[in-house]
Amino acid sequence: MAKLIVVCGATGQVGGSVAHRMLKEGWRVRAITRNVNGDAAKALAKQGAELTTADFDDEASLTKAFEGANVIFALTSQFWEHLMTLGQQGAGEKEYAQLLTIARVANQTPSLEHFVLHTLASGEKLAGPEYVCPHWDYKDKAADEIKRSMPDLAAKTTFLWIGWFVSNMWTLLRPMEVPGTYGGHIWLVPGAASTPMYMTDVATNVGVFVHHLLAKPHLSLPAKYVSVHTDILPYGEALKAWSAVSGKRAEYIEISDEVCEGLMGVFGKELASQLRMNEKAGGDWGRPYGKDFVTGEELGIPASELLNLRQSLEANKEKL
Ligand SMILES: NC(=O)c1ccc[n+]([C@@H]2O[C@H](COP(=O)([O-])OP(=O)(O)OC[C@H]3O[C@@H](n4cnc5c(N)ncnc54)[C@H](OP(=O)(O)O)[C@@H]3O)[C@@H](O)[C@H]2O)c1
Repeated sequence: MAKLIVVCGATGQVGGSVAHRMLKEGWRVRAITRNVNGDAAKALAKQGAELTTADFDDEASLTKAFEGANVIFALTSQFWEHLMTLGQQGAGEKEYAQLLTIARVANQTPSLEHFVLHTLASGEKLAGPEYVCPHWDYKDKAADEIKRSMPDLAAKTTFLWIGWFVSNMWTLLRPMEVPGTYGGHIWLVPGAASTPMYMTDVATNVGVFVHHLLAKPHLSLPAKYVSVHTDILPYGEALKAWSAVSGKRAEYIEISDEVCEGLMGVFGKELASQLRMNEKAGGDWGRPYGKDFVTGEELGIPASELLNLRQSLEANKEKL
């Protein structure tokens, strides 16, 4: 009988990538959503996923949703939902609490063989205490707490980092057209163009990574950190690639943290804290994690299965 993977966030970008790939691999996929009547949920059901309703804040609903799971793929997306109302620390604490709620329930799931949890590196560990970036640090803090207080679960856990989403370039961080420039665009960024960034096409690559790490569990257990990325490039190179693929002229403009916050409010403050941390950290995000940091090459993932930055932009050309 096919193994069962329960996927949190299955109707979103990250979880959707996992759910779609594992369905293709012939697994039983149980997709968690708060709205089984939504379009993304219906599309998953059509492809063979079982739908279940659960909320990350409700342990009883998660216990039911995780029942019988061989694998649980989990994430939280609460940070951005709560940032405007709770501020950076408050949203971080909320996300931390949710990560631990999910982990506690996973820890009490007797059938569980492998727990894959989306976290990120710690800005503090990478760049120092003045570079804490709440939507990264609280995720890593949750990973540390799982290792400290739930050793049985940690033994079955892979922490999955997901690089900067290429889809940001046609969604929330898209370059803006400047009126009166005959099609010129600007990208306002609170960080240097030389800032190294790990990049990935989420829709394809997250599912590919999860499929491969589940096939060779000894490479990412216990409690290793796997980074889903194809390119490590200066941030300014992403704009050059966007420009080359879209055929639109674009200029990179570094703005101060204060200007970014003035333009985007607390969202801009968080964005600046990430970019400044990445700028200071340099191009080796795995350094503080030593041998526990695992790359796609170490997992034996063929580059031919992944979409790199350029391929991802080409595949989404009409959205640029
Ligand atoms: N943008 C970037 O460059 C970047 C880079 C690295 C990491 N990230 C991280 O990626 C994550 C966001 O993932 P995403 O883009 O896939 O999000 P998304 O597309 O917005 O999807 C969110 C998913 O989470 C589910 N969800 C949200 N709150 C829930 C709750 N209380 N209970 C149950 N399900 C809930 C939603 O399900 P329903 O609505 O169907 O219930 C949906 O499936 C964040 O943790 C973010 O920090 C982003």
